[in-house]
Amino acid sequence: MKRDIKCTINGRQRTFYADPCASVLDVLRDVLHLMGTKEGCGTGDCGACTIIWNGKAVNSCLLLANRMENAEIWTIEGLMKDGELHPIQQAFIEAGATQCGFCNPGFIMRIKAMLEENPDPTDEEITQGLVGNICRCTGYKAIRDAVKIAVKKQRR
Ligand code: FES
Ligand code: FES
Repeated sequence: MKRDIKCTINGRQRTFYADPCASVLDVLRDVLHLMGTKEGCGTGDCGACTIIWNGKAVNSCLLLANRMENAEIWTIEGLMKDGELHPIQQAFIEAGATQCGFCNPGFIMRIKAMLEENPDPTDEEITQGLVGNICRCTGYKAIRDAVKIAVKKQRR
């Protein structure tokens, strides 16, 4: 049964009426109209739906909306600041790490959580950190390069 759910999304307190048994992905897209978070597989295998939930990168297709109660959630829509792209978004452009772009929001949120925990990852740590996200276009090297560019940008 639907009920009011309260949480913070992209730094803003939100209250909305939703089914607590729906996925967070469906609530973000269908109730809150935050369409940046994508559905690839819907079964936890592709990472396209990655968001940051209470500081952790999670697959929003596998998280039930009742876990949104009092949570702090960040989606791709929350990254731009004062009209400027986030350094990770900028790094994706510089590295050419985007083709169709469908996987990008999930990768970018995964990388954001990774760099918050480990601001200077090794090549191996980058590869391991991205293991849950699939890209059908880029071949991954450009995405790993984007992480390295983002690390340098965040040091400045
Ligand atoms: S849509 Fe969630 S992991 Fe693929
Ligand atoms: S850029 Fe197309 S799936 Fe990654």
